Parts: sequence; C-alpha cells; structure tokens
Amino acid sequence: PLVPVTELLKKAEEGKYAVGAFNVNNMEIVQAIVAAAEAEKAPVIMQASQGAIKYAGIEYIYALANLAASKTSVPVALHLDHGTSFEQCMKCIRFGFTSVMIDGSKLPLQENIALTKKVIEVARATGVSVEAELGKIGGTEDDIHVDERDAFFTDPEEALTFVQQTGVDSLAIAIGTAHGQYKGVPKLDFARLEKIVGLVKIPIVLHGSSGVPDEAIQEAIGLGVRKVNIDTNIREAFTNACRQVVESNPKEIDPRKVLSPAREAATEVIRQKIRVFGSAGRA
Ligand code: G3H
Ligand code: 13P
Ligand code: ZN
Ligand code: NA
Repeated sequence: PLVPVTELLKKAEEGKYAVGAFNVNNMEIVQAIVAAAEAEKAPVIMQASQGAIKYAGIEYIYALANLAASKTSVPVALHLDHGTSFEQCMKCIRFGFTSVMIDGSKLPLQENIALTKKVIEVARATGVSVEAELGKIGGTEDDIHVDERDAFFTDPEEALTFVQQTGVDSLAIAIGTAHGQYKGVPKLDFARLEKIVGLVKIPIVLHGSSGVPDEAIQEAIGLGVRKVNIDTNIREAFTNACRQVVESNPKEIDPRKVLSPAREAATEVIRQKIRVFGSAGRA
C-alpha cells in the first residue's frame, strides 16, 4: 500500500538525507519511478501536479501509483503537488493520497495560514500529511533580481510564525530555485535556508530542483532539506528519448517502440537523483 509521507520524512531527518518527489503523468513515468526506487533500494514519493490531474485525472494517477506501491517492497507515497484549493485537497484525500500540498503562497500571510489550517484539520484525522508553501518559488521566466530577493524569498521569522500557527507537517520554501529549465546556473540562498532550518523544526521541501547542480542540492540537504521535487529533468529525459526514436526512424508507428526507451531514460535520471539525495539503500 501507499505509505504516509510523514514516516518517510521522519526517517530522512534521522538519516540526514532527502526523499525524491518525482512528478507522475502517465504509466511509463510511474513504472520508471518504481524501477529506479527498486534498483536503488530507496523510498520515493510520486506526486501529481495540476497539469497531471488535467491530463490523466486523479483516478488514473491514484490507481497507477497504488498499483505500483502494492507490487513493490520499497516504500512509495502519493502526494498532491501545488494543491490549489481546500476542495482539491479533500478530493485527493478521499481517493487515498497519503500527502497533500496546499499552495497558498500567492495569498497574504494570514489567508495562507487560515487555508493551510483548514486543510490540516481534516488531513490530521486521516493520517495524511500536509505541505504548505511560503515565499514565491515561481518559474524560471520570472527573473528575480538580487534586490528583490527579500520580497520573494521565504522570510525565516515569517516561516516560524507560519509553522507555529498552522502546525503544518512540511514547508516548501523559496531560496532561489524555480520551476522548469534555468537559463543560467541558479544561485541558492543557503544562509537563508540555514536560518529557516534553525527556526523551523519540520522537514523543508525544495521545489524546482531540476537543473540545480548536484553539489548545491547536496549542500541544501546538508542544511536540512528533506524532500526534493523533480519534474523537468524527467520530462527532458523522457521526451528526448522519444524524439530520438522518431527522428532516427520516421516510419516507426508502434508507441511501445517510442515509449520503452523513454521509460528507460526516465529510470536512469531518477536513479541518479536518488543517489544524489542520499536516499539510495534506505528502503
Ligand atoms: O508544479 C510544477 C510541475 O513541475 C509542473 O506542473 O504539470 O502543471 O505543468 P504542470
Ligand atoms: P522542476 O520541474 O524544476 O523539477 O520542479 C518540480 C517541482 O517543484 C514540482 O513541484
Ligand atoms: Zn513545485
Ligand atoms: Na527547475
């Protein structure tokens, strides 16, 4: 069965590593994540974004992840990524997701707190953990200048207030990462991360981690990041492999011939991430 995320992150804290949270959109990616987790003997989190829910539907995502979890001996959890409303979180909890994110980061602080609390109230009773976001992570297209950092990045004191007032299980923070492909090399605000970890005693989540150099990811984990989100690097590996098949063999019409190498390429990139996160051999 799908396992609670709380349990995985508690063990990650004890072992000082991070659990990879990989975005799922279809059967092949679900299979790639389990294959990678099995090969590396690692716990993993599968997560469904808004785009994944639109594309595949909650039912298919849940069924695929649940099947994957029931067929393997490594711990697999299922998480809602960037949940947009209380209702969506409830829907995922009813289906059997073992964790939800309520992303109130665009709201004023007090509204983000109120919304997060509302989700936690129900989630608690069902053993589902809740991730919230404080600060603006954004996309790589939103260029954040150094003088704007304080306005966008997570404020450590505010993070403490947020965690105390909500009782949230884990916190996604903005320290310079962005969703999607980076134009240059992202510069993370490690001093800010260190301050946050010093104040906030819950697992910290790093979003937008594709394209962040391995050393920077490891430094962030060394400072206390316990969940690392990866989507873009899987998309790149998957789609580039598809492209290679169709370009080198324009007459290919068998989707399985296109998707098998894609699934393998995704497995390989996920295995590499698991090793970087230090979660290999922890299952
Ligand atoms: O949350 C960010 C994901 O990486 C992308 O989301 O599937 O909705 O495009 P999407
Ligand atoms: P990347 O697409 O940059 O890996 O970000 C993924 C993410 O943060 C999902 O929530
Ligand atoms: Zn994210
Ligand atoms: Na990224």
